[in-house]
Amino acid sequence: MIRLEFFKQEYFSEVNYTLDDIQSKYTSTAAFALQRIKDRNTGLEHPVTIFDDDKPVGFFTLDFGEDKLDITDNKNAVLLRSLSVNPNAQGKGIGKSAMILVDDFVKNNFINCDEIVLTVNQNNPLAYNLYIQVGYLYEGKTKIGRIGPQYLMYKKL
Ligand SMILES: CC(C)(COP(=O)(O)OP(=O)(O)OC[C@H]1O[C@@H](n2cnc3c(N)ncnc32)[C@H](O)[C@@H]1OP(=O)(O)O)[C@@H](O)C(=O)NCCC(=O)NCCS
Repeated sequence: MIRLEFFKQEYFSEVNYTLDDIQSKYTSTAAFALQRIKDRNTGLEHPVTIFDDDKPVGFFTLDFGEDKLDITDNKNAVLLRSLSVNPNAQGKGIGKSAMILVDDFVKNNFINCDEIVLTVNQNNPLAYNLYIQVGYLYEGKTKIGRIGPQYLMYKKL
Protein backbone atom coordinates (compact mmCIF):
# COMPACT_ATOMS: atom_id res chain seq x y z
CA MET A 1 0.00 0.00 0.00
CA ILE A 2 1.26 3.44 -0.91
CA ARG A 3 1.11 6.10 1.80
CA LEU A 4 2.61 9.49 2.60
CA GLU A 5 4.36 10.62 5.75
CA PHE A 6 6.27 13.76 6.66
CA PHE A 7 9.99 13.10 6.15
CA LYS A 8 12.08 12.04 9.12
CA GLN A 9 15.88 11.94 9.16
CA GLU A 10 15.82 8.17 9.71
CA TYR A 11 14.36 7.80 6.19
CA PHE A 12 17.21 9.71 4.58
CA SER A 13 19.37 6.77 3.49
CA GLU A 14 16.43 5.26 1.61
CA VAL A 15 15.40 8.44 -0.18
CA ASN A 16 19.01 9.30 -0.99
CA TYR A 17 18.93 7.28 -4.23
CA THR A 18 20.59 8.42 -7.43
CA LEU A 19 18.70 9.41 -10.56
CA ASP A 20 20.28 8.98 -13.98
CA ASP A 21 21.63 11.96 -15.94
CA ILE A 22 18.35 12.59 -17.75
CA GLN A 23 16.00 12.23 -14.76
CA SER A 24 18.23 14.33 -12.51
CA LYS A 25 17.71 17.26 -14.88
CA TYR A 26 14.00 17.27 -14.10
CA THR A 27 14.00 17.27 -10.32
CA SER A 28 16.27 17.87 -7.38
CA THR A 29 17.45 15.07 -5.15
CA ALA A 30 16.10 14.70 -1.65
CA ALA A 31 19.54 15.72 -0.35
CA PHE A 32 19.44 18.95 -2.37
CA ALA A 33 15.88 19.76 -1.34
CA LEU A 34 16.62 19.08 2.33
CA GLN A 35 19.66 21.36 2.14
CA ARG A 36 17.49 24.09 0.55
CA ILE A 37 15.03 23.74 3.42
CA LYS A 38 17.83 23.95 5.97
CA ASP A 39 19.48 26.96 4.33
CA ARG A 40 16.26 28.91 3.98
CA ASN A 41 15.09 27.96 7.46
CA THR A 42 11.65 29.51 6.93
CA GLY A 43 9.63 26.57 8.20
CA LEU A 44 7.49 26.94 5.10
CA GLU A 45 8.72 23.97 3.04
CA HIS A 46 7.79 20.51 4.29
CA PRO A 47 9.51 17.35 3.04
CA VAL A 48 7.31 14.32 2.50
CA THR A 49 8.25 10.64 2.13
CA ILE A 50 6.39 8.24 -0.16
CA PHE A 51 6.14 4.78 1.39
CA ASP A 52 5.40 1.43 -0.23
CA ASP A 53 4.19 -0.39 2.89
CA ASP A 54 7.09 0.18 5.32
CA LYS A 55 9.68 1.12 2.75
CA PRO A 56 10.49 4.72 1.82
CA VAL A 57 10.49 4.79 -1.99
CA GLY A 58 10.02 8.40 -2.95
CA PHE A 59 10.17 12.00 -1.93
CA PHE A 60 8.73 15.44 -2.61
CA THR A 61 8.25 18.69 -0.78
CA LEU A 62 5.29 20.96 -0.13
CA ASP A 63 6.53 24.53 -0.28
CA PHE A 64 4.38 27.35 1.08
CA GLY A 65 7.16 29.92 0.59
CA GLU A 66 7.35 32.71 -1.94
CA ASP A 67 8.59 30.64 -4.89
CA LYS A 68 5.02 29.63 -5.64
CA LEU A 69 4.17 33.23 -6.47
CA ASP A 70 6.07 32.79 -9.77
CA ILE A 71 3.34 30.33 -10.68
CA THR A 72 0.16 31.55 -9.02
CA ASP A 73 -1.36 34.60 -7.35
CA ASN A 74 -3.13 32.32 -4.88
CA LYS A 75 -1.57 32.84 -1.45
CA ASN A 76 -3.33 29.69 -0.22
CA ALA A 77 -1.67 27.49 -2.84
CA VAL A 78 1.23 25.14 -2.17
CA LEU A 79 4.07 24.39 -4.57
CA LEU A 80 4.76 20.67 -4.94
CA ARG A 81 8.43 20.27 -5.84
CA SER A 82 11.39 17.88 -6.00
CA LEU A 83 9.24 14.82 -6.73
CA SER A 84 11.02 11.57 -7.43
CA VAL A 85 10.52 7.85 -7.02
CA ASN A 86 13.46 5.50 -6.45
CA PRO A 87 14.47 4.26 -9.94
CA ASN A 88 14.27 0.68 -8.63
CA ALA A 89 10.59 1.24 -7.86
CA GLN A 90 9.53 3.34 -10.85
CA GLY A 91 6.90 2.24 -13.35
CA LYS A 92 4.77 0.42 -10.75
CA GLY A 93 2.18 3.11 -10.17
CA ILE A 94 3.81 4.54 -7.04
CA GLY A 95 4.23 8.08 -8.38
CA LYS A 96 0.65 8.17 -9.59
CA SER A 97 -0.74 6.85 -6.30
CA ALA A 98 1.33 9.38 -4.37
CA MET A 99 0.03 12.24 -6.52
CA ILE A 100 -3.53 11.10 -5.80
CA LEU A 101 -2.89 10.75 -2.06
CA VAL A 102 -1.29 14.17 -1.80
CA ASP A 103 -4.67 15.90 -2.12
CA ASP A 104 -5.97 14.52 1.18
CA PHE A 105 -2.53 14.79 2.76
CA VAL A 106 -2.56 18.53 2.06
CA LYS A 107 -6.20 18.97 3.08
CA ASN A 108 -5.64 17.12 6.37
CA ASN A 109 -2.41 18.86 7.32
CA PHE A 110 -2.83 22.37 5.90
CA ILE A 111 -6.48 23.23 6.22
CA ASN A 112 -6.26 26.64 4.56
CA CYS A 113 -4.61 25.31 1.43
CA ASP A 114 -6.96 25.11 -1.54
CA GLU A 115 -4.68 24.48 -4.51
CA ILE A 116 -1.54 22.55 -5.48
CA VAL A 117 0.70 24.08 -8.14
CA LEU A 118 3.78 22.64 -9.81
CA THR A 119 6.03 22.97 -12.81
CA VAL A 120 7.15 20.26 -15.19
CA ASN A 121 9.83 20.47 -17.85
CA GLN A 122 8.43 20.36 -21.37
CA ASN A 123 10.78 17.48 -22.18
CA ASN A 124 9.40 15.33 -19.36
CA PRO A 125 6.20 13.90 -20.88
CA LEU A 126 6.13 11.00 -18.44
CA ALA A 127 5.70 13.35 -15.47
CA TYR A 128 3.40 15.68 -17.44
CA ASN A 129 1.09 12.80 -18.37
CA LEU A 130 1.09 11.54 -14.82
CA TYR A 131 -0.08 14.95 -13.55
CA ILE A 132 -2.75 15.15 -16.26
CA GLN A 133 -4.00 11.69 -15.31
CA VAL A 134 -4.50 12.71 -11.68
CA GLY A 135 -6.33 15.92 -12.51
CA TYR A 136 -3.76 18.69 -12.90
CA LEU A 137 -4.55 21.31 -15.50
CA TYR A 138 -2.22 23.05 -17.94
CA GLU A 139 -3.57 26.20 -19.52
CA GLY A 140 -0.66 27.16 -21.74
CA LYS A 141 1.39 29.10 -19.18
CA THR A 142 5.12 28.42 -19.15
CA LYS A 143 8.14 29.71 -17.31
CA ILE A 144 11.82 29.30 -18.02
CA GLY A 145 13.36 26.85 -15.58
CA ARG A 146 16.89 25.65 -14.89
CA ILE A 147 17.02 23.67 -18.13
CA GLY A 148 14.41 25.27 -20.34
CA PRO A 149 10.69 25.91 -20.55
CA GLN A 150 8.43 24.44 -17.91
CA TYR A 151 4.69 24.00 -18.01
CA LEU A 152 2.80 25.52 -15.08
CA MET A 153 0.15 23.15 -13.77
CA TYR A 154 -2.41 23.35 -10.99
CA LYS A 155 -5.10 21.42 -9.24
CA LYS A 156 -7.80 23.02 -7.07
CA LEU A 157 -8.51 21.01 -3.94
C1 LIG B 1 7.92 11.04 -12.57
C2 LIG B 1 8.05 9.89 -11.56
C3 LIG B 1 7.95 10.48 -10.16
C4 LIG B 1 6.90 8.91 -11.81
O1 LIG B 1 6.94 7.92 -10.80
P1 LIG B 1 6.56 6.39 -11.12
O2 LIG B 1 6.30 5.72 -9.83
O3 LIG B 1 7.59 5.78 -12.00
O4 LIG B 1 5.22 6.61 -11.95
P2 LIG B 1 4.07 5.55 -12.19
O5 LIG B 1 4.61 4.16 -12.10
O6 LIG B 1 2.93 5.92 -11.31
O7 LIG B 1 3.75 5.80 -13.71
C5 LIG B 1 2.99 6.88 -14.15
C6 LIG B 1 2.80 6.70 -15.63
O8 LIG B 1 4.05 6.75 -16.32
C7 LIG B 1 4.27 5.54 -17.05
N1 LIG B 1 5.67 5.16 -16.88
C8 LIG B 1 6.37 5.06 -15.74
N2 LIG B 1 7.64 4.71 -15.97
C9 LIG B 1 7.74 4.58 -17.31
C10 LIG B 1 8.81 4.28 -18.19
N3 LIG B 1 10.05 4.02 -17.73
N4 LIG B 1 8.57 4.27 -19.52
C11 LIG B 1 7.33 4.54 -19.97
N5 LIG B 1 6.29 4.85 -19.20
C12 LIG B 1 6.49 4.87 -17.89
C13 LIG B 1 3.38 4.53 -16.42
O9 LIG B 1 3.02 3.53 -17.33
C14 LIG B 1 2.20 5.35 -15.98
O10 LIG B 1 1.33 5.59 -17.07
P3 LIG B 1 -0.05 4.80 -17.18
O11 LIG B 1 -0.78 5.06 -15.91
O12 LIG B 1 -0.67 5.43 -18.37
O13 LIG B 1 0.32 3.38 -17.34
C15 LIG B 1 9.38 9.12 -11.73
O14 LIG B 1 9.49 8.69 -13.07
C16 LIG B 1 10.61 9.93 -11.39
O15 LIG B 1 11.06 9.95 -10.25
N6 LIG B 1 11.19 10.61 -12.42
C17 LIG B 1 12.38 11.40 -12.25
C18 LIG B 1 12.11 12.75 -11.63
C19 LIG B 1 10.99 13.52 -12.26
O16 LIG B 1 10.87 13.60 -13.48
N7 LIG B 1 10.16 14.12 -11.40
C20 LIG B 1 9.04 14.92 -11.81
C21 LIG B 1 9.46 16.34 -11.85
S1 LIG B 1 8.14 17.39 -12.37
